[in-house]
This record gives sequence, C-alpha cells and structure tokens, in this order.
Amino acid sequence: MLIHWPRPWGGDPEKTYNEENLEVWKAFEEAYEAGKLKAIGVSNFSVEDLQNLIDNAKIKPMVNQIRVHIGHVPLELMEFCKANDILVESYSPNATGRLSAKKEIADMAAKYGVSVSQLANRFDLQLGTLPLPKSVHEEYIKQNTELDFVISEEDMQALLAIKE
Ligand SMILES: NC(=O)c1ccc[n+]([C@@H]2O[C@H](COP(=O)([O-])OP(=O)(O)OC[C@H]3O[C@@H](n4cnc5c(N)ncnc54)[C@H](OP(=O)(O)O)[C@@H]3O)[C@@H](O)[C@H]2O)c1
Repeated sequence: MLIHWPRPWGGDPEKTYNEENLEVWKAFEEAYEAGKLKAIGVSNFSVEDLQNLIDNAKIKPMVNQIRVHIGHVPLELMEFCKANDILVESYSPNATGRLSAKKEIADMAAKYGVSVSQLANRFDLQLGTLPLPKSVHEEYIKQNTELDFVISEEDMQALLAIKE
C-alpha cells in the first residue's frame, strides 16, 4: 500500500503537506501492525517528504515509487532512499514508451541483442532499483522479465548522460 503522491490533486505546489502525510502514514502503520498490509510505502516523495516520515513516524517507508528511466535519473533522491534502506521502485522504466525514438538507445540495445525495453529495464535494475514496467502484450510482459545480461560500466555511464 502506497501513498500515491505527497500532495493532493489541485493542492498548493508550494506547500509541504507534512502533517497530512503523517496522519495518513499513521493509518498505514496501524493497518501494517494489525497484519492487514504486507508492506507500506510512498510514491513521488521528495527527500523532504521522506525526512518528515523518518523523523516523526514509528515505521519508515519501505518503498518510494518514483519515475526513473534513461533520461530521467533523480540520483540524489535515489541515494537518500538507499542510505535509509528504502527500496526505489522505478515507474515508467520505458518512459511510457518514448525511448525507442532515440537512435543511440536503439543502437545500444541492438549491440546487446535485446529490445529497447529490455535495455531500459536492465538499466533501472543495475541502478539498484526495482523496475515497474507496464504492457498489455503478453510477448512484451514476458520480454520484460528476461533481463539476464549485463550492461557494461561504460555503457551505463553513456546511458546516464542521456537527457530527456
Ligand atoms: N506512482 C505514480 O505516480 C505512477 C506514475 C506513472 C506510472 N505509474 C505506474 O507505473 C507502471 C508503469 O508505468 P508506464 O505505463 O509509464 O510504464 P512503461 O513500461 O514505461 O511504459 C508503458 C509503455 O511501454 C510499452 N512497453 C512496455 N514493455 C514493452 C516491451 N517489452 N516492448 C515494447 N514496448 C513495451 C507499453 O506498450 P503496450 O502497453 O502497448 O504493451 C506501453 O506503451 C504502471 O503500473 C503505472 O500505474 C505510477
């Protein structure tokens, strides 16, 4: 169970909803301690949003589901999560289907003999995150689990240098 976003739709983008998030989190903790939830976490939380829960709650978030894909890698937030033992779950690992348009990514996928999606999911895995791809095609869903190859350090750096 995740808190989807640290602020409500239509909420003030300048405001930090620390009190409200803490209140929701307490309900999560109760449900977790009652054995109703297997794991509790958050999504789209910044370092500041996470710090509020870490400082004031009993149980810290187990996961932060955030957007991580080639061209969008929030390293500082990922490092913070790692340092606090919070699993980063990468949503939109295929940039919602937009990655194939970049020739350098397609060329690298071809070099490894994999699809662009496989390269993209493997990239997120090698960053120490858990990729969360989405597909309605059985063939793609299966392919997204076939990640038994390793992107070289040099190629990881090249992928990290790609901007959205
Ligand atoms: N927490 C949040 O705020 C948040 C925000 C956004 C998304 N999410 C969640 O994250 C998950 C993934 O998000 P996303 O839809 O943006 O994921 P994504 O995997 O980045 O993009 C999905 C697109 O990639 C295509 N695709 C996936 N695997 C492929 C493959 N092997 N080969 C070719 N094309 C492939 C899909 O095609 P087809 O569909 O045509 O098969 C679809 O067009 C969803 O469950 C979503 O709910 C969470």
